[in-house]
Amino acid sequence: MEPSSIAFWIGSGIVLLVSFSTFRSLVAKVMKNEKVMQEMQLSTEELKKELDELPASLKQNRVRRAWRGYRRFILDEKVPEAHNICSFHLRPLDDMPLPPFEPGQHLGFQLRIPGHKRPTVRNYSLSSSPKERSKYKITVKRIPPPPDQPDLPSGVGSTFLHENLAVGDLLEVSSPAGKFILDRQDPRPAVFLAGGIGVTPLLSMLETICDEKIERKCYFIHAVRNRSEHPFREHIQKIVEKCINVDLHVFYSQPAEDEEVDATDHRHHVGFLDVDCLAKITGGGDLQYYICGPPPMMKNLLPALEEFGVSSDSILTEAFGPASTRNNPAKVSTDSGEESTNPGQHKLHFKRSQRTLTWDGTSPILDMAEEVGIFIDSSCRAGNCGTCEIRLHHGDVEYEEEPGVDITPGHCLACVAKPVTEVNLGA
Ligand SMILES: Cc1cc2nc3c(=O)[nH]c(=O)nc-3n(C[C@H](O)[C@H](O)[C@H](O)COP(=O)(O)OP(=O)(O)OC[C@H]3O[C@@H](n4cnc5c(N)ncnc54)[C@H](O)[C@@H]3O)c2cc1C
Ligand code: FES
Repeated sequence: MEPSSIAFWIGSGIVLLVSFSTFRSLVAKVMKNEKVMQEMQLSTEELKKELDELPASLKQNRVRRAWRGYRRFILDEKVPEAHNICSFHLRPLDDMPLPPFEPGQHLGFQLRIPGHKRPTVRNYSLSSSPKERSKYKITVKRIPPPPDQPDLPSGVGSTFLHENLAVGDLLEVSSPAGKFILDRQDPRPAVFLAGGIGVTPLLSMLETICDEKIERKCYFIHAVRNRSEHPFREHIQKIVEKCINVDLHVFYSQPAEDEEVDATDHRHHVGFLDVDCLAKITGGGDLQYYICGPPPMMKNLLPALEEFGVSSDSILTEAFGPASTRNNPAKVSTDSGEESTNPGQHKLHFKRSQRTLTWDGTSPILDMAEEVGIFIDSSCRAGNCGTCEIRLHHGDVEYEEEPGVDITPGHCLACVAKPVTEVNLGA
């Protein structure tokens, strides 16, 4: 054989060998990838199964914020809905699509009010259907001074929105938040109980039930003072006409003298809503309650429902109390030499205010701070809106119930956080 032929055959052999081993390793990689893929598919399925098996309440707590901080929106439209009640339609300034929200969630607003040194932070529930993806809608009641103190100024945030905000003005808005949301998977009949302006998150839930053709039985019950203070009267009536699984009932506590109340209409009631009326309307049984109303309504209705045998797991609530509502003042001692009511409890260092307090053993951080004049923005005071989020520079806190909003790492929710060690806070 010629040396050139020998070289040719040796070269071909090498090429063949290399090709074969490359082919073998390729086959091995493909098979390995397939195995990995199979494993991944398995774990995705297992994960999906685990998620499906999670209790609804846990799934509801997994609400993530769609954007951090504040995004700018333009006021597109301002629509009167009833006496002192107005809807505000908001379009994002960047014209980017809006992230979906859960029916029942609210937005946070940082209002720059002339004459106020700091922005005023308030929350307003989304009153529209999540189906609408180009605009958000909120509906706000202008809060007058308390009836027994007419000389006090009316509500700061709501009055500003009603009286000063004009179409085309900008607003700073935080992303939809809150765990007061409709559980679409719950097959039980749903009872929506709205007191006055508390109708806003429940209206969004009702719109969802009808838009998504959710077939569970629903009772939508709205208690208001009279017709002039009845927002969305015709709108809700129209929704309910299209949605045969929803029964609508309205309670007028103080109908005006010239107001006609059709006594033959069993869905129109005069007086206050109570548990006996509720039992007559719904027939009782295993029901899921969604309740949002003013503090007196919540204060009366919730214990009455529980006394009636409704378990607290079946009642979801949202309270719209004024931003300044507080139950028990904290017992505070400072390092300025005052006696501590609970000696030996953790120290709270407020970095910006340069104050150190001794924890009273029970109060959340917000109450402790306010008691000595340290200002922290707040609204719901229940861990549901994120307004009171502050830096936690050092130490640990705990929450009795899992908060309804996603907390930024390295921060805590002052309204519900309690220290479990000495803490260093950014307020
Ligand atoms: C999750 C959530 C969702 C909400 N959704 C809605 C909604 O959809 N629609 C809605 O209308 N509201 C909603 N609210 C309530 C809203 O956030 C505000 O609390 C409400 O608008 C009142 O705010 P304000 O600034 O107008 O009143 P504030 O300034 O907080 O005043 C409240 C009351 O205190 C009185 N007051 C003023 N000064 C004093 C003083 N020195 N001493 C004692 N009292 C005083 C005022 O006269 C008024 O009666 C929601 C709240 C939360 C937490
Ligand atoms: S005030 Fe709403 S989470 Fe604290």
